[in-house]
Amino acid sequence: MFLFSLALLSSLPLAARAQSASVACLQIAASISTASSVFFPGSLSYATDIFHWASSSADLSVCSVEPGTAADVAKILQIVGASRIPFAVKGGGHTSNPGFSSTPGVHLSMSRFSEVTYNASAGTVIIGAGLVWDDVYTVLDPLNVTVVGGRFSGVGVAGYSLGGGYSWKSNQFGLTVDNILGYDLVLPNGTITTVTATKNPDLYFGLKGGLNNFGIVTRFTFKAYPQTQIWGGLITYAGPTIPAVNKAVADFSALTTDPKAQIFAAYNGALGIAVLGHLLFYDAPTPPPGIFDEFLAIPFLTKDIGTRDLASIVRLFPTNVTTGSRTIFDTVPVTKYTPALVDAILNETTFWSAHLAPFGGLAVSYNIEPFLPTAVPSTNPPTAFPGTRTPGVALCPTNFFFLWVPETSDAIFHDAMHQSTAQIKALAIAEGVLGTSKYTNYAIYDTPLSDIYGPNVPRLQSIKKAVDPQNIMGLAGGFKF
Ligand SMILES: Cc1cc2nc3c(=O)[nH]c(=O)nc-3n(C[C@H](O)[C@H](O)[C@H](O)COP(=O)(O)OP(=O)(O)OC[C@H]3O[C@@H](n4cnc5c(N)ncnc54)[C@H](O)[C@@H]3O)c2cc1C
Ligand SMILES: *[C@@H]1O[C@H](CO)[C@@H](O)[C@H](O)[C@H]1NC(C)=O
Ligand SMILES: *[C@@H]1O[C@H](CO)[C@@H](O)[C@H](O)[C@H]1NC(C)=O
Ligand SMILES: *[C@@H]1O[C@H](CO)[C@@H](O)[C@H](O)[C@H]1NC(C)=O
Ligand SMILES: *[C@@H]1O[C@H](CO)[C@@H](O)[C@H](O)[C@H]1NC(C)=O
Ligand SMILES: *[C@@H]1O[C@H](CO)[C@@H](O)[C@H](O)[C@H]1NC(C)=O
Repeated sequence: MFLFSLALLSSLPLAARAQSASVACLQIAASISTASSVFFPGSLSYATDIFHWASSSADLSVCSVEPGTAADVAKILQIVGASRIPFAVKGGGHTSNPGFSSTPGVHLSMSRFSEVTYNASAGTVIIGAGLVWDDVYTVLDPLNVTVVGGRFSGVGVAGYSLGGGYSWKSNQFGLTVDNILGYDLVLPNGTITTVTATKNPDLYFGLKGGLNNFGIVTRFTFKAYPQTQIWGGLITYAGPTIPAVNKAVADFSALTTDPKAQIFAAYNGALGIAVLGHLLFYDAPTPPPGIFDEFLAIPFLTKDIGTRDLASIVRLFPTNVTTGSRTIFDTVPVTKYTPALVDAILNETTFWSAHLAPFGGLAVSYNIEPFLPTAVPSTNPPTAFPGTRTPGVALCPTNFFFLWVPETSDAIFHDAMHQSTAQIKALAIAEGVLGTSKYTNYAIYDTPLSDIYGPNVPRLQSIKKAVDPQNIMGLAGGFKF
């Protein structure tokens, strides 16, 4: 059910594998239009194409391809499909799982799909699959328009949107998958199609969480929303004030019902010491009094909070500190953050950052992400992710994140991640707050499909069988139906 591209390759002798991928690269170069290019190791474009936010999510491919048209994507799929060459599709390259958007075979970077087109009369924004969210907000902010998109710098539109999408706007409008009206999709057999609710309800459902199982998306049509300036920013805390911050986080999770208010509470640990970096957000130039008072009353280390545009809060959080390091994510979904849960998450931060340091650990980060039930509206048409939407119940995607250097320590960190999620999951069960579905884009690579997609698994498997009978998308890594 879960497949590394590496596992596929191990059946071929190394030299034969590289040779057949080289042949495919040359075939691709000979058949694509001038809108597209193939690059080989040694070129700057190749290095940019295979680059990932986490070095553990990158691989050295035989070549990289930058397709510029859907027709060229179709040709590439036909070539790799016919010769059964492992390949990868990369949007923003921010996956936390090894092999999900990288390959030793043929690497596709979607960077040339870079359009952002606002259509005021249709109320839509068309967004290319090669962009990162920073680019999108830079275009939309001056138009006073936005979409239900990413919260952090560097994250790709494509992987984020095909996995689910927890946004600053989600409490008001649902997940990102609830706000995509159409997909331009190259099917695994090379047919180019537009997927909408009425034209192809099965694929429309499947693409809303199904990542790369159904083909390659070249552009998305998003619902547009008006956007004013927002209020918010980053506040950091450490030392003796932490218990007060924990209380503020649990209070926010228990009490706040204003859908324009949100926090992203990062519990970071290094060498056993916790430093908290919390983002406060309100979707208007000034928040109503009260909501953030508890946070603002606590003595802080640094504070950069005010009225700003959406692009500026997205760029504020330093997400690129990981560059060159190895990472792994996992998640424990919860319905809310009780005081005991927040305290236990702080304990995990100090415990694992101390315990893992001797193995080359740089830092750990546990991100508490309170959302309201309205972020997963149960009245919406069904979507692949989340597996279950329970009316009136929230689904908060707690992010667990380890950062280290030596590749030889990978197994230690992956094992520690399993231990840490088990610890917090047991407490979430005891507190009666375990959520239904693990978030696709945070779940560790060996997560069973049913933990993410729940009762949707059989339908997703049958759609997959119908659309990709030869399992061409199985040549690319990721969670596989
Ligand atoms: C710093 C950081 C902050 C984050 N913040 C958030 C957040 O606020 N909310 C949230 O919901 N998630 C968040 N995430 C998780 C994020 O959604 C995932 O990392 C996601 O994979 C990023 O998408 P990408 O395009 O950069 O990934 P990639 O690594 O490029 O791709 C991820 C997956 O999508 C597939 N894919 C990519 N492009 C296509 C395509 N065109 N067609 C078909 N399949 C494709 C890939 O093959 C791969 O399986 C964050 C991650 C990081 C690292
Ligand atoms: C914008 O949307 C309208 C309504 O759907 C459509 O008629 C028009 O062609 C679109 N404009 C462009 C430039 O695509
Ligand atoms: C966007 O909003 C600002 C502030 O209200 C206003 O000055 C500006 O003219 C608006 N821009 C557009 C394109 O509507
Ligand atoms: C991270 O991004 C900031 C802002 O773009 C930049 O100044 C800084 O050099 C980057 N750091 C790394 C490690 O790439
Ligand atoms: C802290 O976390 C570790 C690792 O999960 C666990 O063994 C320990 O019991 C926890 N301590 C407390 C006080 O909860
Ligand atoms: C490609 O797949 C689609 C979806 O299953 C199907 O409708 C179409 O007929 C196929 N095209 C070819 C040429 O096989």
